Amino acid sequence: MTYLVVGGGGREHTIIRKLKESSDVDKIYCTPGNGGISKDAEVFDVAATDIDGVVELAEKLKVDCVFVAPDDPLVLGMVDALTERGIRAFGPNKRAAIIEGSKVFSKELMKKYGIPSAAYEVFNDPKAAMDYIKVQNSYPTVIKADGLALGKGVVIAENFEEARNAIHSIMEDKIFGNSGNNIVIEEFLTGPEVSVLAFTDGKCIKPMVSSMDHKRVFNGNLGPNTGGMGTISPNPYYTDEVAKECMEKIFLPTVDAMNAEGRTFKGCLYFGLMLTPNGPKVIEYNCRFGDPEAQVVLPRLKTDFSKVVNAVIDGKLGELDVEWYDGACACVIMASGGYPGKYDKGIAIQGLDVNGQVEGATVFHAGTAFKDGEFVTNGGRVLGVTAKGATLDEALANAYDAVEGIKFKGAHYRTDIGRAYKQK
Ligand code: AMP
Ligand code: GLY
Repeated sequence: MTYLVVGGGGREHTIIRKLKESSDVDKIYCTPGNGGISKDAEVFDVAATDIDGVVELAEKLKVDCVFVAPDDPLVLGMVDALTERGIRAFGPNKRAAIIEGSKVFSKELMKKYGIPSAAYEVFNDPKAAMDYIKVQNSYPTVIKADGLALGKGVVIAENFEEARNAIHSIMEDKIFGNSGNNIVIEEFLTGPEVSVLAFTDGKCIKPMVSSMDHKRVFNGNLGPNTGGMGTISPNPYYTDEVAKECMEKIFLPTVDAMNAEGRTFKGCLYFGLMLTPNGPKVIEYNCRFGDPEAQVVLPRLKTDFSKVVNAVIDGKLGELDVEWYDGACACVIMASGGYPGKYDKGIAIQGLDVNGQVEGATVFHAGTAFKDGEFVTNGGRVLGVTAKGATLDEALANAYDAVEGIKFKGAHYRTDIGRAYKQK
């Protein structure tokens, strides 16, 4: 089979490397890709959100399957456009991708079908939202823009001042554009966070091994939120007992709810969970693989990935045994100086071999380019240095050993991935 993978970050690099292991896969193309991806796939410069451009490219290359990895093209309906032209595609259609595309939709879905989540109210008028927080007068409170906002649409307001500023900037200054036409104000939950990605063909759901993201930029879970500074798998809090409860109360009911709404979800469904004192609750749904969750989950997949992808597309997931390796996997993100704020690009990266790799780990490239024979930085999150081990400690030691050997000016990374949770 030939694949066209849409996207250009660490998640896409992981997907490509996993597909390459499959005996069914002859050739992989990627658009727009990045420096590291260009060593594993043939890359093109069509943007991931350019629906017509991607359809045209897929037709020109005559690929057997298009893997749409990022949220924006899924929410925009790229899978619908490909399917209409008779091109096989992995990922939910537009009607199903709304589970990530609109927080108002997902909150209403959970309420209607009794899926545990934070209590909430929806507002389309900033004045009504202000009146509500005044009456509630309870902090922290959580304010979320309805639509996609590059992972930045959630504000945890510690006091009235912060809540007012959030409502003002999202609904009036429109810092996230139309994504802020509506907001959700929800109850603040506490507890460990768990990411569970799951394959589903709309009939059955097969959760992957669990993982834990580290969203804050600095050690000790301090500083602003990022796209994710590192991940571990498995998540130490996700016991078999919790997994069973999540299956009964969250995973199966979500698949059923989407079917009942006429929005059958096929692809990778991501559950962002919080294990609260009152049981597991959904913080958010994503309609795709997490980044950097994919980096620690997919390396642990034992079953041929391409076979799983096709079983999902063909509605035959129930017939396939999806198996996982024991042990653990850890990913440490090396970021550009200044990220998640402003940062420079084009800085030379030292320590990588000609394929952008190092000994003892796998380097999933996120924001890199390959220019004049060398790898340079080209984004906020630059590299996801990933290693396996028999135990979590071993995986972490292997990943951090590899990080030591990679340098670029301004590089920063957390030194407590997989350990921060123990401090709490
Ligand atoms: P999201 O973009 O929805 O994943 O939210 C980003 C982060 O905000 C989550 O990973 C949580 O740490 C935090 N968060 C979101 N909603 C809540 C909530 N209701 N209570 C506490 N923390 C939350
Ligand atoms: N790492 C969180 C996400 O992909 O949304």
